[in-house]
Amino acid sequence: MLLEVRDLRVSYGSIEALHGISFTVDRGEIVTLIGANGAGKTSTLLALARLPRPEAPAVTSGDILYEGQSILKTEPHTLIQNKMMALVPEGRHIFGNLTVEENLKIAAFPHRKDINREAITGEIEELVFELFPRLRDRRKQRGELLSGGEQQMLAVGRALMTGSEFIMLDEPSMGLAPKLMQEMFRALKQLNFVKRMTILVVEQNARVALDFASRGYVLRNGEIIGGGSTADLALDPDVKKAYLGG
Ligand SMILES: Nc1ncnc2c1ncn2[C@@H]1O[C@H](COP(=O)(O)OP(=O)(O)OP(=O)(O)O)[C@@H](O)[C@H]1O
Ligand SMILES: [Mg+2]
Repeated sequence: MLLEVRDLRVSYGSIEALHGISFTVDRGEIVTLIGANGAGKTSTLLALARLPRPEAPAVTSGDILYEGQSILKTEPHTLIQNKMMALVPEGRHIFGNLTVEENLKIAAFPHRKDINREAITGEIEELVFELFPRLRDRRKQRGELLSGGEQQMLAVGRALMTGSEFIMLDEPSMGLAPKLMQEMFRALKQLNFVKRMTILVVEQNARVALDFASRGYVLRNGEIIGGGSTADLALDPDVKKAYLGG
């Protein structure tokens, strides 16, 4: 088991967003959490990534185990430095005034100023460009001049630059035209297949997510109300009715 979430409760001040959720992600798996607006998808990923952001929720009880060890007290930069996990957050967190290449380079080793980025990052950067050829064509272009879909690809590329073995994505399909969405999910599938990368993706677009992942959980109002293989979930009458448009 790579990741085990046990009875996790998460709050923003006095508002509880997750009321004790449990789920697992095995090494090499693609797992999805599907749910409507406000179900708690982003809260789950923010809790897992342990980001020291003011808008991040607090874990009030339960546990998050990574390879059997609790990471509740682990510093977020330790998670990144040890290549344990990387988050592609909701929205596109890239630097608009930096070029594609610069965005990628600074994503690697964000806490190290003493290393030769050029030498170490070249190989991963090449991987990112192989996965997203349109980023290669635009390597000297400033981030803010990319299309929304290209910015989304760059955000994924930045997470890859950390060299992490586990990547979490918050609604990567958001705002993407069907063709770019296909490109995005094809690239992620390839990473999973070729690099054995473990992927946890949260999506409001259940159709796309169930197609992409091998296992999934259904999140509603801060609780997990179902789970199983995505093939089974896609056939589940309740899931169909609530998330697949009947
Ligand atoms: N910073 C915050 N402060 C207070 N409450 C918050 C905050 N962020 C989220 N919430 C609440 O927590 C609950 C879960 O929100 P969350 O953002 O995790 O949902 P989501 O499943 O990601 O939804 P969406 O599909 O709209 O992105 C919601 O009721 C939301 O109002
Ligand atoms: Mg969200």
